[in-house]
Amino acid sequence: MQDSLYYDALVIGSGASGLGVALRLAEFAKVAVLSKTELAECSTFYAQGGISAVLDARDSIESHIQDTLNAGAGLCDPDIVRLVVSQGKECIQWLLDKGVAFTEVEAEDGGTKLHLTREGGHSHRRVVHAADATGKAVETSLLHHARAHPNIDLYEFHNAIDLITAAKLKRSPQRVLGAYVLDRAAGKVKVFGARAVILATGGAAKAYLYTSNPDTATGDGIAMAWRAGCRIANMEFMQFHPTCLYHPKARSFLISEALRGEGAKLLLPNGEPFMHRFDPRAELAPRDIVARAIDHEMKRLGIDCVYLDISHQSADFIRSHFPTIYAKCLEFGFDLTRQPIPVVPAAHYTCGGILTDRHGRTDLPGLYAIGETACTGLHGANRMASNSLLECLVFAKQAAEDLSQRLAEFPPPPPLPAWDESQVTDSDEEVVVSHNWDEIRRFMWDYVGIVRTDKRLKRALRRIELLKQEIAEYYGNFRVTSDLLELRNLILVAELIVKSAMQRKESRGLHYTLDYPQTHPVAQNTILDPNRPTR
Ligand code: FAD
Ligand code: SIN
Repeated sequence: MQDSLYYDALVIGSGASGLGVALRLAEFAKVAVLSKTELAECSTFYAQGGISAVLDARDSIESHIQDTLNAGAGLCDPDIVRLVVSQGKECIQWLLDKGVAFTEVEAEDGGTKLHLTREGGHSHRRVVHAADATGKAVETSLLHHARAHPNIDLYEFHNAIDLITAAKLKRSPQRVLGAYVLDRAAGKVKVFGARAVILATGGAAKAYLYTSNPDTATGDGIAMAWRAGCRIANMEFMQFHPTCLYHPKARSFLISEALRGEGAKLLLPNGEPFMHRFDPRAELAPRDIVARAIDHEMKRLGIDCVYLDISHQSADFIRSHFPTIYAKCLEFGFDLTRQPIPVVPAAHYTCGGILTDRHGRTDLPGLYAIGETACTGLHGANRMASNSLLECLVFAKQAAEDLSQRLAEFPPPPPLPAWDESQVTDSDEEVVVSHNWDEIRRFMWDYVGIVRTDKRLKRALRRIELLKQEIAEYYGNFRVTSDLLELRNLILVAELIVKSAMQRKESRGLHYTLDYPQTHPVAQNTILDPNRPTR
């Protein structure tokens, strides 16, 4: 296998956004898609609830827009919300054309139609789903098409390290030229040159000890973009999903919000419902409100979890609508059809990310960012359920359409220098990496979680500064491994989260601080610029 490869477009990430853009780009370009582990291992694969889209005659685009704006607590970009929401139906049709088998029900005319479920913040049923394993259905279909496409080359276990830019090579004009990539199986670093690069690397919830996300979610795209000079926005808005299964071996397995959409109640250990005390929408309030209410009750009563009860629904309904969740709960000894199950919040979704425009363009010419790694303005201070997969699909389309017009502006890159390993040796103490991983995730959970204070944020930043130095030394001296690369990205992302949180002197959406409980009348994005460092 060659160590230098050249493509029209390099897509980093093989989730819904990465495969979505690759399939569209492949209509006019030669595309490489990288995945740092198995191709299907990504947040997309684990998505449960579904994809929001206005499909019911009683629903409307205006209503979906309004619900998204309400959930986003004044910080959404209304133009982007309209752009995304108005493409819902088209995106669902695109997935149907790719063979995604969404759940159907009998229609009034005796035929079939898509079943629509409901989730928090939505005032209508508008969530298209494949039972409770929507992501698996989407990812499997898209992968099937990508594998078969002659213009797409898929590279699994290929971990992008950093972007190669003209400025780093002391050339002009500034633009992205490709990336250095660790081929994990071969244990060597390759050069991928490309006319355009699309970051589709997913979120950063692995910065927290407890998360619903797979191990891939270490914010690599955000860190690479920052190091390449791009601005990053709204990182303080880390979303905590209210309901993950509470069991020492369950690894924060998600219990879909669709259960609450179908009437499940949140209960205290004594069986008492409590959500009505926090919001008139009770269990169907937006996620920030539900997660904070659970956190409040857990701290008030000193309890380890609360309970979620859907046993009012028939066993047949539960087993057919939530087969994956039902089976997983049974594995841990909980029968969803008969008893309340123990749940806790966990880090779930990164609302902030690489600042992009309506085409997915970043600050660096030729570099695009789409999906969870991007901050498009859709989610504002809190993402509404099932708007993420929709955003992935819409921005995959936006970016591909933009590149179909602009690829000619970016000539093929010149031959790029090989990765230099002349100054490094193999690591002598891997424990440094695993220890630092654990330490970051623990203090982020304890100090930068659902409820924040200035004191806790300062504590976290002090630790970050120490660890950052240690990790930089380690990175400078030792040959790269996948764990080391992720650790280097994770500490940077943690720093961006903490610094963004420190800048926000108010409580809004997912950012709640005891020191500034009020919400400012004027909403502002938090934008960090690597060219203008802050303390
Ligand atoms: P991902 O699907 O996470 O893909 C990221 C890809 O980037 C992976 O292939 C990874 O290997 C690759 N990658 C990362 N770093 C590198 C690197 N350095 N080098 C090479 N490759 C790299 N949203 C909804 O809208 N509806 C839902 O029902 C829903 N349910 C969810 C349930 C769970 C359990 C989780 C975790 C999330 C859920 N979400 C849901 C959120 C949604 O699934 C994600 O936001 C979305 O799938 C992100 O897609 P993506 O393409 O941006 O990233
Ligand atoms: C869920 O099914 O609760 C997750 C939906 C989402 O994160 O959008």
